[in-house]
Amino acid sequence: MKAVVFGSMNIDKVYSLAHLPEKGETLYTDGYEIHVGGKGLNQAVSLAKSGADVSMAGWVGTDGGFLTDFLNESGVNTDMIQQTNGFTGHAVIEVDRDGQNQMILFPGANKEITENYCDTVLESLCEGDLLLMQYETSQVEYMLRKAHSKGIITALNPSPYVDEIKKLPFDCVDYLILNESEGQMITDKTDVTEVVEALKALNPDGVVILTLGGDGSVYADKSQTVSVPAFKVNAVDTTGAGDTFTGYCLNAVLNGAEPCEALRTASAASAIVVTKIGAAQTIPTFSEVKSFLSNLDKN
Ligand code: RIB
Repeated sequence: MKAVVFGSMNIDKVYSLAHLPEKGETLYTDGYEIHVGGKGLNQAVSLAKSGADVSMAGWVGTDGGFLTDFLNESGVNTDMIQQTNGFTGHAVIEVDRDGQNQMILFPGANKEITENYCDTVLESLCEGDLLLMQYETSQVEYMLRKAHSKGIITALNPSPYVDEIKKLPFDCVDYLILNESEGQMITDKTDVTEVVEALKALNPDGVVILTLGGDGSVYADKSQTVSVPAFKVNAVDTTGAGDTFTGYCLNAVLNGAEPCEALRTASAASAIVVTKIGAAQTIPTFSEVKSFLSNLDKN
């Protein structure tokens, strides 16, 4: 099975702070780093590190060549990436000493993607291949409808949440992977069990995978609901944890892993990511994830 991630590629400008700023507050930073990022890029790297055959589709500007280079070095095919004359998307990320973050996004080239480009990407995919998307690019609805009608397996991480996400054709989504607050906002419910049931109802034949931060994660389809706890680690930066989870979990599920095992592997991969500053460059290889898990089993 071939996987294509149609998604965002961002330059992450990461500022370390003692605490996240209040309204009107000016703060000096403890540090500033530039990293590769974007939910699409991070998820493509996660799929590749977990062992998938994955290509990245999306747009960067003239300043985004290093993102493509990073993807290539990480084992992601970049032949479909298009460069435009404008700016690459970027994220301003503030991280506090507890590892919590807040972010502003400049979409740049990510939101300039055209239907013509989408058609080229769709032509490269066959029935049974995987298309994974997030919500940081233009054309998500177009891609979902066309991919579904072609029999392509669709996975959507509806992040970051904006109200127009509620209007997406969820009946075209085979795998819906999201965090608790996104689930709550899409369903207008707060209780996790009710959120999961409401998400399942959006596509009764689909799979819902809900991450709950420190409370673990849930897999639900029409025949079963499975939960696993999170691993307790010392979090330094949670950026990219959800993206890492998404790539690892999807690859495991689509390769026949039991849901419980897929969630556990993905949780381990994202637990490793949060112990380091940055997103894509901290995503572990599959052998690092296996040794993390076997060390736990020994203790
Ligand atoms: O999910 C983390 C990512 O969100 C960051 O890399 C940033 O670029 C934003 O897209």
